[in-house]
Amino acid sequence: MENILLCHGGVGSKNRSLPDMNGIAKNGWNQDPLTSVVNAIVIMEDDPNFNAGTGSVIRIDGSIQMDAAVSTPGRFGSVIGIEMVKNPVIVARDVMEKTPHVMLAGSGAIDFARRCGHKPYDPKTPRSIEAYKKMIEGIKENMTENEKYIEFKKLIDSGLIEEPHDTVGAVARINGKFAAAVSTGGASPMMRGRVGDVPVPGAGIYCGDQGAVVATGIGEDIAKRVLCYRIYSKIGSMPLKTILEKEIGYFGETLAGVIAVSRNEMAYFSNGSMGTDLYAEKI
Ligand code: GLY
Repeated sequence: MENILLCHGGVGSKNRSLPDMNGIAKNGWNQDPLTSVVNAIVIMEDDPNFNAGTGSVIRIDGSIQMDAAVSTPGRFGSVIGIEMVKNPVIVARDVMEKTPHVMLAGSGAIDFARRCGHKPYDPKTPRSIEAYKKMIEGIKENMTENEKYIEFKKLIDSGLIEEPHDTVGAVARINGKFAAAVSTGGASPMMRGRVGDVPVPGAGIYCGDQGAVVATGIGEDIAKRVLCYRIYSKIGSMPLKTILEKEIGYFGETLAGVIAVSRNEMAYFSNGSMGTDLYAEKI
């Protein structure tokens, strides 16, 4: 048996110079599984190569709104559409540990973050601004949000603009205890207020007594399938890898990936390239 921290840097990333995922897992490592997964996510949120925290994609209206979640068996915390904070995953942990709620959204999440000591921070980077500029070229000011979305989508579908998918996630099984965490800037193009799978329990994250699962890919499709809970509910019925392969099989060409740990297995599977690595210690 091993203690394991397994991390991913997003499915479908065209950023082939992905940072050293093994190093991220190693640096995030802690004997407490929740601290391990949060540490790993913070490292990736602080790395502008990922679409989470610093480096998150810019929405159609020019804003950055981020989603993040953490979970341990029976406990859950998430933030939805949070803006101007450095580490959404730490705010999600604060929601879980310091409030009676499971989710905080929008301005309420920002106010809560400030009360917890999260200072104002702009996660825009030269790369995200450049990508946004490319997106808005040719878009007329007087277009509605929906018309802009359709124009942006055409640019992405034609390959002129890279579609960012570098959502980040981590799962851990340490001394028999599980934890999961996930964070994203979303899946471009997005209208303001759009919410994907990440902050929704059972959709982009699930953690229970039998294991921990997090997902990456197109949030709308992952949420519609309640993907992580579906996988969790099948743990033990067949090899973990087979469960992941079958569930990702339902997505066809829609990008999706998952990482998971159970009591005696760990597995990852995606239908596009996905930077994944782990740190493990024998016990
Ligand atoms: N999977 C990230 C998102 O769609 O928001």
